[in-house]
Amino acid sequence: MSSAAQDPRRRVRVRAPGKVNLSLRVGRPGADGYHPLSTVFQAVSVYEEVLASASDTVTLTAQGPGSEQVPLDDTNLAVRAARALARYAGVDEGVHLHLIKGVPVAGGMAGGSADAAAALVACDELWGTGLGREELGSLAATLGADVPFSLAGHTAVGTGRGDLLTPAMSRGEFHWAFAVQDEGLSTPSVFRAFDSLHGYRPDATGGAPLERGDDVALMQALRAGDAEALGALLHNDLEPAAVAIAPRLAEPLAVARDSGALGVVLSGSGPTIAALARTASHALALAAAFTAAGVADRVLTAAGPVAGARVVGVGE
Ligand code: C5P
Repeated sequence: MSSAAQDPRRRVRVRAPGKVNLSLRVGRPGADGYHPLSTVFQAVSVYEEVLASASDTVTLTAQGPGSEQVPLDDTNLAVRAARALARYAGVDEGVHLHLIKGVPVAGGMAGGSADAAAALVACDELWGTGLGREELGSLAATLGADVPFSLAGHTAVGTGRGDLLTPAMSRGEFHWAFAVQDEGLSTPSVFRAFDSLHGYRPDATGGAPLERGDDVALMQALRAGDAEALGALLHNDLEPAAVAIAPRLAEPLAVARDSGALGVVLSGSGPTIAALARTASHALALAAAFTAAGVADRVLTAAGPVAGARVVGVGE
C-alpha cells in the first residue's frame, strides 16, 4: 500500500497559472482538422488551485466564478489527467480533486489546461509516482495543446499544435488588465470561423508547420523587457474570427485602445481581451475603464511571467 492510501488525510495543494498568447499565428488545417500554430505564451498571475486528497475512486468538485459551467464527469481534463497518470505509472489508487477556479472558464486563458497540469503535479505528489517534469510534460501533451505550457509556465514559444515548447527569455515584469465575459467561446467554433474567413478546408495540403520568423521583434522586446515595443507587437490571427462570432468583443478592444493600453489582444480563442499596461496601477486603471464602459462582465489584473504548475502545500 502506498503512503497516500495509508494516510487518508493526506492532501496536496497545487497552483497553476493562466496564460495569454502574446502572438498567435494559425496556418491551414491538416486532414485531421487541426491547425498548425506558432505562438508565444506568457504565464500570468491568475491561478487555478487544485486540492488533491486520497480516495478510492477519481472524483471532482469545483468552486469559484463560472464553476457551474465546469463538467464534473470523466470528460473534465483534470479527471483525464489523473487517470492518464494512474495508467502510465501503474497506480491503482484514486483521488478527490477540488478545483478552485481563478482563471476565467472557457475564456481563452487555458484554465482547463491549468487544472489538468495541476492535477498531474498533485497526483504525482500524492501517489509518490516521482515522475520528472519531462515525463509529466509528455503526458500533458496527450491531454491538450495548452497543457504542456501550463506545466512549464514562464514564457515559451509553442509550435505544432502549440504543444511543442521552447523556453524564451524575458526580462522584468509585464502588467495586464483582462476583460472577462460570462459567456465563453468554444475553441472549435472559433477555429471553424477562422477557416471560413480564410476559405480553408481541412485537407492533406494543409497542416504544414509555420515559420517562426514573424516573431523575431517580439522576442527581442521580451528580452529587453520593453513593454511599449511588446504592446505594439501583440497579435492574434483568431481575433477577427472571434469578433465575427461575438461582435461585442470589438468594444473592450476599443476601450483599451482609448484608455492608453500599450497594446490589446484577444487571449487565445477568446473571449477574454488582454490589455497590456505600463505599470500595475495603470493595469488597475484599464480594468476600471472596462468596468465603467460596461464592456466586461468581470475584470482581472495580473502580472507575468510566472512559474508553471507547482505544489504549494502538503499535509493537513
Ligand atoms: O487541443 P484542444 O483540445 O484545446 O483543442 C480544442 C479544439 O480546437 C480542437 O478539437 C480543434 O477543433 C481546435 N484546434 C485546432 N487546432 C489547434 C488546436 C485546437 O483546430 N492547433
